[in-house]
Amino acid sequence: MKIGVTGATGQLGRFVVEKLKEKVAPENIVALVRNPEKAAGMGVEVREFDYTHPENLVASLQGIDKLLLISGNEMGQRLPQHIAVIEAAKQADVKQFVYTSILHADTSPLSLAVEHLATEVNLKASGLAYTILRNGWYTENYTGSAKGAIGAGAFIGCAGDGKIASAARIDYAEAAVAVLTSEGHENKMYELAGDEAYTLTELAAELSRQSGKVIPYNNLSETQYADILKSFGLPAGIAEMLANSDTGASKGGLFDDSHVLSKLIGHPTTPLAKVLADAIV
Ligand SMILES: NC(=O)c1ccc[n+]([C@@H]2O[C@H](COP(=O)([O-])OP(=O)(O)OC[C@H]3O[C@@H](n4cnc5c(N)ncnc54)[C@H](OP(=O)(O)O)[C@@H]3O)[C@@H](O)[C@H]2O)c1
Repeated sequence: MKIGVTGATGQLGRFVVEKLKEKVAPENIVALVRNPEKAAGMGVEVREFDYTHPENLVASLQGIDKLLLISGNEMGQRLPQHIAVIEAAKQADVKQFVYTSILHADTSPLSLAVEHLATEVNLKASGLAYTILRNGWYTENYTGSAKGAIGAGAFIGCAGDGKIASAARIDYAEAAVAVLTSEGHENKMYELAGDEAYTLTELAAELSRQSGKVIPYNNLSETQYADILKSFGLPAGIAEMLANSDTGASKGGLFDDSHVLSKLIGHPTTPLAKVLADAIV
């Protein structure tokens, strides 16, 4: 039984391959990657797999029984890319298709959810046996700004008092490995989020505790926050997406208290305090 992992050279994909190797013989794992040079040293079979080259995808999926499609990172381009992978999987007779979606994709206020929901609809209509992992926010989304916030003396955002139930990438990777290596996940959907939920005020308080400095949370308007992110050099589209996501969080879009993730992986999700501590050392 061979398991293929797309985006295997990305941050989530590398964790998935690492954790899969603890459960499956390396010869049964295939890293499906855009750039094979980046996959050197992964210790598994590597095949070229670029979502924008649909003509090559079926050949690369030969012999793959279970496929994990890690959603792409080119916002606005992802739906045709994901559909190309779904079509190729049908032709290659993949037995189980696992997709990383977004938390509460059908009701989420985040603009990011649009491409995920459309992918889910296409996957369900494909006739493939599917498993949808509706991944919540990565705690690591905040680690980049944590050091900057300590330097600047404030943590900024526009998430208001929205509770964010994030988990670490490694937790979501373990969930993917759990569904790829055990039975009974066909045509199921899992809402995955961290055990712990916090507001950005609470995140700033944790940063204050760990750094020994007073780091308040300054809540901005969505436009102000996007403008500041642009002034830091972020491309406009990314800055606006991040600000829109914070606004979505203020409406509860990143909250979930089902604890499905920790049940699936068999242990509590990684605490916010640990992810921050690892980031600011
Ligand atoms: N839940 C969250 O908080 C959150 C946050 C950010 C992103 N995401 C989503 O989750 C996904 C995985 O997260 P991540 O942190 O691992 O992101 P990442 O490090 O940016 O990895 C994305 C992966 O997708 C691959 N990819 C992009 N376009 C491709 C294409 N045309 N053909 C084949 N592969 C392609 C990239 O290949 P290369 O290695 O060649 O670049 C990379 O391996 C992201 O892509 C995004 O959809 C979720």
